[in-house]
Amino acid sequence: MKIDDIDHIYRDGRHYDCLFGDPDMSFWLNIVATYGTPILELGCGTGKITIPLAEADCKITGIDLSEAMLEHARAKTQNRNLPVCFKLGDMTEFKEEEKFKTIILPSNNLAHLMDYREAEKCFRAVFNHLDDDGAFVIDAFVPAISILSKSSDDVETLSEYDDPDGEGKIEVTATAIYENHLQIRRVTTFHTRSDGTVSKGYLNMRMYFPQELEALLNHCGFEVTEKHGNYQKDQVSSNSIKQIIVAKKKERANQSE
Ligand SMILES: C[S@@+](CC[C@H](N)C(=O)[O-])C[C@H]1O[C@@H](n2cnc3c(N)ncnc32)[C@H](O)[C@@H]1O
Repeated sequence: MKIDDIDHIYRDGRHYDCLFGDPDMSFWLNIVATYGTPILELGCGTGKITIPLAEADCKITGIDLSEAMLEHARAKTQNRNLPVCFKLGDMTEFKEEEKFKTIILPSNNLAHLMDYREAEKCFRAVFNHLDDDGAFVIDAFVPAISILSKSSDDVETLSEYDDPDGEGKIEVTATAIYENHLQIRRVTTFHTRSDGTVSKGYLNMRMYFPQELEALLNHCGFEVTEKHGNYQKDQVSSNSIKQIIVAKKKERANQSE
């Protein structure tokens, strides 16, 4: 994997941490209390979820494709003796010695699986690493037609934050096009600094529609046992922004019915 293949916002963990808010840790702590440890996180980035789980004494391994993101995660945990291990790896082809009680694909990381073949490779690797009674938890957005159909001229403000190098503010705006036939939203980000200089970045996100996702999971040996529309675990409805899925190995899911 070359640096050119990594989306721009994942090339500096310090900027990534400023760009996005903090995760809903009460949700993730509850997931782990229900399904157990050890945990494997796919696409752990700078450890926004990984580190608070390790701080709660949950044994966790995080894998990520971006060395820059992992470097920042490791810096945050240095000399802290937490039960966490950050590894460079690809969620479509990882190989770990141990099996996991809970495997999580959080933060809409599903969108980084660019087609159904990549999703299938990832889900099969998850199946092979999941304890027979374990749970695979996916937290992703429901593709919203109102967003996908926006004009490529629409400029959305994503964030404004203080430059971690102390060079003033950075405003991040974005435009996007949606490729219907590939189900990929191609986002261009514009990072405007206080001195007026602008740098561009690119981010590609594959959209997974709910029925397609469930069919893919089924195809890879999973049964969806829970579906929530938000972190409060409300039922999914046509207004839900999120699809939060718990899937189990088929034979086990049927046994517990
Ligand atoms: C949206 S970020 C989420 C990071 C972290 N989970 C969080 O909540 O802040 C997505 C992460 O997935 C990683 N990623 C993208 N494709 C990947 C792949 N094929 N295998 C492993 N990690 C990948 C990116 O490098 C990035 O760190």
